[in-house]
Amino acid sequence: MTEADLYVEYKGVYLPKSVHPPESLKHYEDFIFRPDDVLIVTFPKSGTTWMQEITPLVLSEGDLSSVQSLPNWDRVPWLEEHRAILLNLEQRPSPRVFATHYHRYMMNESYFKVKPKVLYVMRNPKDVFTSSFHYFGMASYLVKPGTPDEFLEKFLNGKTMFGSWFDHVKGWLKAKDEDHILYIAYEEMIQDLKGSVSRIAQFLGKSLSEEVVEKIADSCVFQNMKQNKMSNYSLVPEEFMDQKKSAFLRKGIAGDWKNFFTEAQTERFNAFYEDKMKDVEFKFCWD
Ligand code: A3P
Repeated sequence: MTEADLYVEYKGVYLPKSVHPPESLKHYEDFIFRPDDVLIVTFPKSGTTWMQEITPLVLSEGDLSSVQSLPNWDRVPWLEEHRAILLNLEQRPSPRVFATHYHRYMMNESYFKVKPKVLYVMRNPKDVFTSSFHYFGMASYLVKPGTPDEFLEKFLNGKTMFGSWFDHVKGWLKAKDEDHILYIAYEEMIQDLKGSVSRIAQFLGKSLSEEVVEKIADSCVFQNMKQNKMSNYSLVPEEFMDQKKSAFLRKGIAGDWKNFFTEAQTERFNAFYEDKMKDVEFKFCWD
């Protein structure tokens, strides 16, 4: 199936129509934020699921019950997904935690008025590409990636779901002086999960003991999350995500792109990256 079959174009980006029907996009447009809401913002495949595990544990000071009893999409719902309409989010007690893949320019009026807290997770785009390639091959609601070369052109030119990685990151980085935002990289979380949990806790105004930080980090390591059926997407029917083709929690490492990119693809990616990111001052840990 093609983009015309599976995607809708909304505010300049492709969205898979089966998960984002018009009524869910409208629901998000009208959604009212609270100042103490916490919003996890990511480009897809940058570590959303990971942060959907860490954040509730930080807020609950290490109480594991929510990650053991609620699937991640109900624990930290995506505001743009149809499911958000069904969850009575208005009734949830504060602080609520949500996820979104929206670019900043796509955010609704209430976001700009209320400025809830944002945890923006970034990941080396070559690893985002590699993870996406496998994911697009196993998820039936997405257009099949084709060859790596074909998918690379779509990825670079923002012709996959949620548009361009480059525009997403640049747009959210520009908000650094205006929004209430913590930038954190997937690679930092890989390198020092305990330190990352502490940074997130500090940003969210939680003072956690060393034991609690350790407990949270231990519960959120890749191998433990992979065993947790509330987080490993095993509750999703196989016709929607075929994890026999590729697991959702696939490898969970930094730098897997090196096992995937050819030399020509690396050159193409690097040249594109340098041009697109030349005006960005932020120091990325993968540069
Ligand atoms: P890989 O496909 O490279 O393994 P998202 O949740 O935004 O869709 O991102 C999915 C990516 O995050 C996958 O990357 C997945 O394995 C990785 N991931 C999820 N939880 C993780 C964890 N606890 N540790 C490391 N990586 C994790």
